[in-house]
Amino acid sequence: MRKFKVTFLPDGKDIEVEENTTLMQAAGKAGVYVNTICGGKGVCGKCRVQVINGKAKADKHAIALLTKEEIDDSYVLACQTRVQDNLEVVIPPESRLEAEQILLTDSFVSEAASVESAHFEPLVQKLYMELQEPSNEDNIADSDRIIRELKRKTKYNAYERSLGCLRELGSKLRNSGWKVTATIARQNNGWKILEIDTGDTNDNNYGLAIDVGTTTVVAQLLHLQSGKVIGGEGTHNLQSNYGEDVITRIAFACGKEQGLQELHKSIVKNINDLITSLTDKHGIDRKDITAIVAAGNTTMSHFLLGLMPCSIRLAPYVPTTHSFPQIKAKEIDIDIYPEGILETLPDVASYVGGDIVSGVLACGIAEKPEIKVLIDIGTNGEIAL
Ligand code: FES
Repeated sequence: MRKFKVTFLPDGKDIEVEENTTLMQAAGKAGVYVNTICGGKGVCGKCRVQVINGKAKADKHAIALLTKEEIDDSYVLACQTRVQDNLEVVIPPESRLEAEQILLTDSFVSEAASVESAHFEPLVQKLYMELQEPSNEDNIADSDRIIRELKRKTKYNAYERSLGCLRELGSKLRNSGWKVTATIARQNNGWKILEIDTGDTNDNNYGLAIDVGTTTVVAQLLHLQSGKVIGGEGTHNLQSNYGEDVITRIAFACGKEQGLQELHKSIVKNINDLITSLTDKHGIDRKDITAIVAAGNTTMSHFLLGLMPCSIRLAPYVPTTHSFPQIKAKEIDIDIYPEGILETLPDVASYVGGDIVSGVLACGIAEKPEIKVLIDIGTNGEIAL
């Protein structure tokens, strides 16, 4: 299969794609946003772009949506034009989404903000410990010695061990003079030891809270030992290149070969880009991010984990699942701490997602005696009473 380079202007972002990839798909891969209201069906005419270098021909169907002047000026519909040459493509202002700003409040991004300590029990925690060396009187196994100390230091009683944390455990303990840091993650009703590091790495523990919105994706970076907010970033959901609303995107995922994969990869790219931006800005190693908690509507959560959402749009509107397994972030190619955890908040119904669940949890209305209402006015609206 031949490959061609497509350069998108004015960003100057380029990408190498296989022959016959649509310009819409190429834009998504390059991280360039194009207005695609109909999800690439070729009926809205909103994805006009101008090819200023290289050959690209609009097909008959697409020509019907363009004026003669536009055709003479080499305008094409990005969703109906396939790459068959090295191209330079201008995205005109009316076809772009980036002109809109994503507004984040000061308290969301402020380094002075912090999570209320009474409610702060991070998904992944680090505990530094100085252990007693084994002796004839105290000759329990190395991993049992660590669990005994963890039980002393925490209120938790059930600890599992990952195979990874047992590898080289003996040499780590002895080489460090029995001074190590345990990284533990909450799982089901207990905790799992993810890794043992030599020395005190307590401070290198960060987490991300991510709102996977239909239109925007917003991430907040927190220091998990202190609960302090380090910063926040937002970006447009790259899936907008496949349709503006969830129904159009479900149709794309379920109607096109590799459609689900493309939507899944788009949101993973969004998240990896946000991590790069946040860690660069705040001078943090992305490998020190040990946990991500993501919330989105039911369809967005399915796309994030690569689950088929087809039946969500068809009566009786059944999703694959309402609750999502805790996974290692690397299982879906999110680049953080190798043992880092991704937890996706459960949804309530096909159109009542984990985003409003997170809102209910965060503002605590479920624990209040009075009757209260929470309204999420997003691309998809939800109300909790
Ligand atoms: S015509 Fe609607 S996205 Fe291209």
